[in-house]
Amino acid sequence: MPAIAPSSPIPLFDDQVLTDPYPSYRSLRELGPAVRLEEYGVWAVPHHAQLAAILRNPDLYGSEDGIALTDLANEQLLAGTVLASDGAQHVKLRRVLSKQLAPRAMKGLADRVTARAERLVRAHVESGRFDAVALSQHMVCDTVMELMGLPQADRELLLDGAAATFNVFGPDNSRYQQALPLASRMVELLHETLTREAVDRDSWMGAIFEAVDAGQIEESDAIPLASAYTAAGIDTTVLGLADCLVQLSRHPEQWQTLRGDPERWATPAFHEALRLEAPIQAFGRLTTGPTDITGVHLEKGEQLWLLYGSAGRDEAQWGPEADTFDIRRPGNDQHLAFGGGPHLCAGIPLAELQVRAVLHALATHCTTLTPDGDPTRVLNHLLRGYSSAPLTAELAPAAPESGA
Ligand code: HEM
Repeated sequence: MPAIAPSSPIPLFDDQVLTDPYPSYRSLRELGPAVRLEEYGVWAVPHHAQLAAILRNPDLYGSEDGIALTDLANEQLLAGTVLASDGAQHVKLRRVLSKQLAPRAMKGLADRVTARAERLVRAHVESGRFDAVALSQHMVCDTVMELMGLPQADRELLLDGAAATFNVFGPDNSRYQQALPLASRMVELLHETLTREAVDRDSWMGAIFEAVDAGQIEESDAIPLASAYTAAGIDTTVLGLADCLVQLSRHPEQWQTLRGDPERWATPAFHEALRLEAPIQAFGRLTTGPTDITGVHLEKGEQLWLLYGSAGRDEAQWGPEADTFDIRRPGNDQHLAFGGGPHLCAGIPLAELQVRAVLHALATHCTTLTPDGDPTRVLNHLLRGYSSAPLTAELAPAAPESGA
């Protein structure tokens, strides 16, 4: 039990650390179960075990006023969202989303998502070269915007707006200041575009307005609730899917394993990529009373920074090969890249559905996947992944037309 609380000068949000945070995460894990980040005055939680326990205890570790690192983000930009609410308010908001995102709702979507993946994969790989990020963006944006009831929305704007929103979760530095106007503009844009007149009645947004009309939520809850789809549901899946493709292209033997039985291996491949490179590297929490994190005493009102990205590399959980991509790793779906407890990602079934569909289509059409130069990394306070990842593919011979 450490007598003095561990602390570290690591500049977690500087470009150099964001480019490769894993050596810093390792040193934080070596320092203790909760480590004070001197530069930001918050407590990093770098281990899988403590992080999982904190997520299961929302009464002591709240999201309201604690999910982001600045008051402005917590009190203005994120206030009223499902991510930033606790207790009864969280249950009320989450209930509306859960209906639309539940596995049962996904059954009705599967054919459409599979058909979209097949169409997009054929178009993207046709020349034998493609960008894993462009394919993923196309797939995920089109799916989510159609489901929201805004099929014509501007894809670039949404992606840039969501990335800015994630930067605003971080500390007040130049990246934060640069992101602030666009993140605020995104909120305004949602208010302008997501109106009762503009959205399809049988869309997610239509269902949110229905919940307002039925008195289940307030009118003022509608747009913050919808922002969960545009912020949490798009970039995350784009980055996770693209990273999975990059990893598979670097491990040709694992690509062949997946091709041999995509039904069996598509989901484990996705989870392994999420474990290794969590698309959301961290979220915050605020202690609502005095607490003890495996010997580190914290007072009420302390800010925690839950390092999902570090938990996925924790040797205490994953063994000495924690840094290796292995789709056969037993139990890799136990990673915390989707969070946990009551705030566990509501979109897991949709993310899995889309990724499975793309991996199936690629496994059918590409006998090999190979990196085609270095991918370009996204630098963001929360997000991890690539903005571009060129790959080459050898194409499978076209199947003969039936009846030929
Ligand atoms: C690879 C894809 C995804 C990743 C890595 C991811 C990650 C996460 C994480 C880490 C959280 C937990 C937040 C916390 O700790 O407070 C979360 C929550 C959430 N996610 Fe996802 N997400 C993904 C896809 C999606 C999709 C496709 C949707 C919906 C379209 C979605 C909607 C949500 C919502 C609504 C929440 C808030 C849940 C709550 O606070 O109760 N996510 N996600």
